[in-house]
Amino acid sequence: MKSEFKTVSVVGLGYIGLPTAATLASRGIDVIGVDVNRAAVDTINRGEAHFSEPDLDILMKSTVSVGKLRAVTEPEPADAFLIAVPTPFNKDHSADLSYVEKAARALAGVLKPGNLLILESTSPVGTTEKFCNWIAGERPDLKLPHQYPDNPDINIAYCPERILPGRMVFELVENDRIVGGITPACARQAKRLYEIFVRGTLHLTGAPTAELVKLMENAYRDVNIAFANEMSIFCEKFDLNIWEAISLANKHPRVDILSPGPGVGGHCIAVDPWFLIAGAPKETPLLRTAREVNDSKPHLVYKKVRKQIKRFRKPVVACLGLAYKPDVDDLRESPAMQIVEMLAKKGEARLMVVEPNIDKLPESISKSPHVEGCDLDRALEKADIILLLVRHKQFASVDPRKYLERVFIDTVGLWQRPVQ
Ligand SMILES: NC(=O)c1ccc[n+]([C@@H]2O[C@H](COP(=O)([O-])OP(=O)(O)OC[C@H]3O[C@@H](n4cnc5c(N)ncnc54)[C@H](O)[C@@H]3O)[C@@H](O)[C@H]2O)c1
Repeated sequence: MKSEFKTVSVVGLGYIGLPTAATLASRGIDVIGVDVNRAAVDTINRGEAHFSEPDLDILMKSTVSVGKLRAVTEPEPADAFLIAVPTPFNKDHSADLSYVEKAARALAGVLKPGNLLILESTSPVGTTEKFCNWIAGERPDLKLPHQYPDNPDINIAYCPERILPGRMVFELVENDRIVGGITPACARQAKRLYEIFVRGTLHLTGAPTAELVKLMENAYRDVNIAFANEMSIFCEKFDLNIWEAISLANKHPRVDILSPGPGVGGHCIAVDPWFLIAGAPKETPLLRTAREVNDSKPHLVYKKVRKQIKRFRKPVVACLGLAYKPDVDDLRESPAMQIVEMLAKKGEARLMVVEPNIDKLPESISKSPHVEGCDLDRALEKADIILLLVRHKQFASVDPRKYLERVFIDTVGLWQRPVQ
């Protein structure tokens, strides 16, 4: 059957947009990727990804070489548009929608009747409606679905992304997705687009519900991690082993406590709950407290390390891991980074930093005279204190029994003995 989508434009070619563009192109669609970052566009047009993600390079090479995927810096006409630009938060934790607004206004100029627009950026409830208004402001000649629900010229929907870095190419295809239309017809057309590459079930709803669902998913994770973190703070006070306690509690058939850690990082779980809190501050005390508990963890780890540092004359600390989660190179909002930055700034110890997933340390710490990037063996050999910050697979082989005279601070429970 001939598809109604011959050409699809993906606006914003980052962690979400690029795998989506390459996957669509691999299904025979002509994909025009749009990104304001010229360097990223050039890299993509050479058939390479500008960040590391398993299997993405293969997909890029095969689609760019046959002309199915190409990247540009200005929007061009297409049958459908997927928008995956950043939605960070402002200083007051409200969502910064300026990237979405700029993208909407820029692509409005190339729209034509029959087009489908889908916003994928994680957004506060009501953003898709704002998105419609930005387009309407630029294109008063077009009938938009929020104003003309029965006979719009273009359809607009919201479809959040929930893929996991490290498994993006697989999960893009296999995960279920929530497709929220401004009208039911918008949702149905968006569903037809995702059917080109998604094997998971596509669940249709309204745009505001789809916006809420994405935020709720991440807030759910945040609150549950905060519970584990709060219990770890409690255990610290009473000198109890949190890992043993959780493992025993989880033997209850209806209890499943998550793992505590040095804090919550990344650009999703640490950010998205704020979009709910900012929308209804009085109605979300639990979400705010969870955020505060998780945000307090890096400071508590920092204090714990400093207490140990004071025991040594010329202390050396091996800091194992910088990424915000295991086995990725992403340092955004990383609690491990935050802890190492605080220790480097204090300058009371030599820090030997091991991050196997990056080639060079970020400037915020590499410029410090107290910081040295090195490999795992060297850090373990020299350190007085071994501070484990991320559960990278490379650290699993470390046997603490070989380093009995060192102080171990394991913030992720990797080296804890399992309960018998
Ligand atoms: N990365 C994830 O794991 C993940 C998961 C789920 C949802 N999300 C959400 O998806 C959205 C995108 O996230 P990401 O991680 O891909 O971000 P990213 O920073 O990796 O990529 C965004 C890209 O958009 C480009 N851009 C910015 N403004 C633009 C504009 N006006 N026109 C064209 N391009 C523009 C940037 O140059 C960048 O390449 C965010 O809302 C994020 O919260 C991300």
